Amino acid sequence: MITNTELEQRGNQFPLNVTSYKKNIDTLYFQTSNNVTLQVTVVRDNVIRFRYATNSIFEKDFSYAITKYASRGYNQLDIEDASEKYIITTEKLICHINKTNLKVSMFDASDKKLISQDEIGFHWEESYELGGNIVKMSKISHTGESYYGLGDKPVQTNLKGKRFENWVTDSYAYEKDTDPIYKAIPFFIGLHNKKAYGVFFDNTFRSFFDFAHERKNVTSFWAQGGEMNYYLIYGPKMNDVVANYTDLTGKPHQLPPLWALGYHQCKWSYYPESRVKEVTAKFRELQIPCDAIYLDIDYMEGFRCFTWNKEYFPDPKKMVKELADDGFKTVAIIDPGIKIDMDYPVFKEGLEKDYFCRRADGPYMKGKVWPGECYFPDFTKPEVREWWAGLFKELIEDIGVKGVWNDMNEPAVMEVPNKTFPNDVRHNYEGNHCSHRKAHNIYGMQMARATYQGLKKFAYPKRPFVITRAAYSGTQRYTSSWTGDNIATWEHLWIANVQAQRMAMSGYSFVGSDIGGFTEQPDGELYARWIQLGVFHPFCRTHSSGDHGDQEPWTFGDEVTGIVKKFIEIRYQLLPYLYTSFWHYHKEGVPMLKSLVLYDQDDVQTHYRTDEFIFGDKILVCPINEPNAKGRRMYVPRGKWFDYWTDTIIIGGKEMWVDADIDTMPIFIKEGAIIPKYPIQQYVGEKEFDELTLDVYYKEGKESSTLYDDANDGYEYTNGNYSLRTFNLLGRKNQLIIQQHKIGKFITSYKTFKLKIHGLPFKIAKIQLDNEEILFEKVKVNGDNTLIVDKNFTELHIIGE
Ligand code: GLC
Repeated sequence: MITNTELEQRGNQFPLNVTSYKKNIDTLYFQTSNNVTLQVTVVRDNVIRFRYATNSIFEKDFSYAITKYASRGYNQLDIEDASEKYIITTEKLICHINKTNLKVSMFDASDKKLISQDEIGFHWEESYELGGNIVKMSKISHTGESYYGLGDKPVQTNLKGKRFENWVTDSYAYEKDTDPIYKAIPFFIGLHNKKAYGVFFDNTFRSFFDFAHERKNVTSFWAQGGEMNYYLIYGPKMNDVVANYTDLTGKPHQLPPLWALGYHQCKWSYYPESRVKEVTAKFRELQIPCDAIYLDIDYMEGFRCFTWNKEYFPDPKKMVKELADDGFKTVAIIDPGIKIDMDYPVFKEGLEKDYFCRRADGPYMKGKVWPGECYFPDFTKPEVREWWAGLFKELIEDIGVKGVWNDMNEPAVMEVPNKTFPNDVRHNYEGNHCSHRKAHNIYGMQMARATYQGLKKFAYPKRPFVITRAAYSGTQRYTSSWTGDNIATWEHLWIANVQAQRMAMSGYSFVGSDIGGFTEQPDGELYARWIQLGVFHPFCRTHSSGDHGDQEPWTFGDEVTGIVKKFIEIRYQLLPYLYTSFWHYHKEGVPMLKSLVLYDQDDVQTHYRTDEFIFGDKILVCPINEPNAKGRRMYVPRGKWFDYWTDTIIIGGKEMWVDADIDTMPIFIKEGAIIPKYPIQQYVGEKEFDELTLDVYYKEGKESSTLYDDANDGYEYTNGNYSLRTFNLLGRKNQLIIQQHKIGKFITSYKTFKLKIHGLPFKIAKIQLDNEEILFEKVKVNGDNTLIVDKNFTELHIIGE
């Protein structure tokens, strides 16, 4: 695509022949006769960074996305000067740089097969009006190649054939295919010949991705400024691509407190205090588990951040404490717009300290949001973030609010056509002063980061909990997120499902949708179906705009209330499984939701599937997306699966009909899985229990499962005070062996495991525990293959007749 059409001589420009190269430790520089420099850095054996300067002068190397904790280091880096090309070899990749045109091709080092290849490769246009370049890259799209990723795009999982834009946008009541929306995550995964690679285009300007849309055999990406600066991340497993991308842009800095994985209730707005209490009391009365209650903008005085409306909330500290005594954590909203009001201390201080964003020629950036006309902190300046973090002292430390919800941080501006700041607004950008063109996509991220820093400080020794609407790559280090202002329609239930999966494969797992829909009102059936999906999302919250009636679990009559309760209870039972999956995400970058293509990329049937996904690594879920359904057709991936409700064994690798009346949904457990379960609690920590259930699903063969425990909050786990158990299951025709290996110092409150063995194909004759035969009475074996053993067993051997 050429932008400067009226200026022919400024159309696409290309690198010419390479005249020299030099090497500096992990980095190679290739120089062309027309002064283009390509910098190639080997970050890891399977992660290579490409950076181009059109006049040999690179910008200062700075990125908000890349974390300082990213793993670096490689085992091999060789360069060979071959006749027509340079050949760079690492342990995992071979990279060819063409000497005549600087085009790049990448190959798998083990079998020498092609992974990715430049089409016309790097090219650019000069941005004569604004300075800098429009930087572009085009690569060949191979036959049968599929594309995934890109954050929150509300479209089919496979992106092939489509074009997208990355520009963080407030998108009230967006729809399927609306683009762009709230997040900018310029990372995609390509898959062909069973091999997956990722491209992370770390450029914060407005950027575009075209996946074989403009031309059938070309995939391209470009940005309206900045540098062509991208990372190629090789798998060949998609899971590894995602894990490596997540490592590069950061895993969550700490685990969330366990309560944050419970159920959350939100509305715009619950006020006054008596209404908040009415809602929380109803949860306890109906015994529907709930851990968090939200305060939307009406808790403030005239929508001024860090204030309270004293008429609605006369004594917030007392209220927050009373809610906490009943197991509810209070989460409060904080937006970026600061009301222009000289009697408002936050505004006054921001003004005095010159913390607000300014237009190009000096005036402040003035925009309308909920409080009326506002100024906006420049969160790209470290000093401003520090100030902002400090503002949370009262809310968190004194009043006891446990979580903060950052909204409108695209930043959203009302009553202007582009819904945000004009491009000329200036930003500090950590001393790399720039305009809003460059800072727009990271503004919300930096706000959430500042909020996170405040929470981290003032919630200490507890863990912080933040939720943001806007995000750029890397935001997952600081905060959870939701998918914005969706609609109470069946189509949006489908959208919520793809968005949560897509975010997870884009390194951002701690995400959920407004359950039931934000705008308009769902009927009971839609709400029930949405809860069924929502309890399998890492972040699980009902939220609605409130101008259309209620949206609490009991709003839609007794039948729906019962279904909602049942599914929220399933989530609470699965909390140890979910927490373990979060631990793998936090430690290893493993996505908590896996689209089928991530689960089994070698099965081409998965490449275009959208609805089914794996929750954690062992539970297959498929929501019902239509009204009046008695079930649905779905694809069950290869392998054997247990129907969660009936224990019927299903052989996967095919599409099939699954019954699912309104009070149930398709859920399957992978054979060999060991699923840990808590008893039902009304909130995390309500009960101390001395037994943990392990649902064991027999398999003939091997499977391993893990269970992570710690204090569920605080930082002791970072000092080794956690417990990670690995269960290795081995099933034979008339034997089942479970070995346990444990690391970590944490001592769990439970003392025993109650193992419920599903699908055991034989009658138990003998049980050996840690190599000693034991009497059935000792492990309380009963007729349905349930036995109780000490939590520290190392080997359980069940032998059939
Ligand atoms: C925005 C948010 C929504 C919130 C509302 C009022 O529309 O997306 O979640 O309830 O603002 O604060």
